[in-house]
Amino acid sequence: MSINPEVTPYNLWKGFQPFNPPIIICQTCEIKNKGYEARCAGRTMGEMHMSRVSASAPGKCILFGEHAVVYGQPAVAVALEQRISVSVETLVSDSGSWKIDGMHFQAKKHPHVQALKNRMWPSSLGAPALSIRIEGNIPAASGLGSSAALSVAASAALRTARGRWFVSINDIQNPETWAEGFSSTFETSPLYSNVSGEIDSRRKMVSDPQYLANESVISVDECALLAHSVEAIAQGGRASPMDSSTSAHGGIVMLSDEVEQEVEYLYTRRLKIAEQERVWHLHSIELPVNARDVYLVIGNTGVYAPTSQQVAKVAELLESEPSRMKEIETIGLISRRGIKSLMEGDFEAVGRAMSENQIMLQSLGVSCPELETLIRAASPSSLGAKLTGAGGGGCMVALTRHPKQTSEAIELAGGRTLISRLGNNGLSIDNYENLPMWKPEL
Ligand code: MEV
Repeated sequence: MSINPEVTPYNLWKGFQPFNPPIIICQTCEIKNKGYEARCAGRTMGEMHMSRVSASAPGKCILFGEHAVVYGQPAVAVALEQRISVSVETLVSDSGSWKIDGMHFQAKKHPHVQALKNRMWPSSLGAPALSIRIEGNIPAASGLGSSAALSVAASAALRTARGRWFVSINDIQNPETWAEGFSSTFETSPLYSNVSGEIDSRRKMVSDPQYLANESVISVDECALLAHSVEAIAQGGRASPMDSSTSAHGGIVMLSDEVEQEVEYLYTRRLKIAEQERVWHLHSIELPVNARDVYLVIGNTGVYAPTSQQVAKVAELLESEPSRMKEIETIGLISRRGIKSLMEGDFEAVGRAMSENQIMLQSLGVSCPELETLIRAASPSSLGAKLTGAGGGGCMVALTRHPKQTSEAIELAGGRTLISRLGNNGLSIDNYENLPMWKPEL
């Protein structure tokens, strides 16, 4: 529990609060305090029982298949070194309104957080208001999956903060032992269907439920699923699980229209888009041993391009000219070839496939002059280059053995660069104390 600056004697003196400070109950020792004298038995101010959780998740870079993946074609993305970290804490004065980075939370400004709040932290069930801090080095709206990373990290922080009820705690990673939660193995459509109201994750009434609140209750699948559902809402119903799953699992993630044989199968996701059910089978690809020799250099154009607009643009094109589905299918073929080369560690062929993929993306109208300038600048020193993410601005990526040279060339052409190796860690819980922040009734 922390001292809320809004209820200190100084603020009271300044007249910001009426002289009627709220009663605060420390969730750890259950001692009641007046807001301005907040302290637990035997403790002084500043030593209060603060409840907090921090989680982080990486951004992603798509090597092949963006846009086409929304229509079920294969695609592959890698987790980046760059990450978003989300810390949540309870507010000392529970006024019922959330804070983000010290400001009042506005649902319109943070649709992902709002949708997660509806699913994980419903105030109608008594969940207390939270203060959220978001930090990181993934530029927003640039095709690097910053919103998916935020959603994955936030859903992990909220699950850790509220804990989980179990039927039995013998095998807690098995969703069949949960009394509440979301999983690919349960019915997932309610998660995607209700876009504005609260969604409660309670499932099973059991006679002797058991409860745990620490990082062991985290399920990577659950965080990826929640993040996908909130991405879908923010993108007007059209979103592949590519960004959310890559951020949650880390490494290299492949999506396909079929269950693949030579890679590790993770799960299947289904989503109805414009009355058609899309099905994606997700897989994890092992990092080839020679992947340490290559780098991704990402060049940011600085041009703002929200994913939802680019995805809608492609949808309109395909609606007005259905024959353009040919380009989507060609991207699928290039991806399949590129993925095979990636698994074999043939990075020269991976680079060639990336450049071919760029030609198709240009033809779909999602590239732009700024992206093409950076791609041209990177080409002489790299194995291949293309836009990454939704396009229309945002970022390009070059696969290179000479990161410094490629980065300098992109910067000279006006881009801001980031360098990452392939195959970084996914979701992690970085620290927590005094849990649970809220123990829901089952
Ligand atoms: C965005 O990072 C990738 C797109 O394919 C959209 C999606 O997969 O949801 C453009």
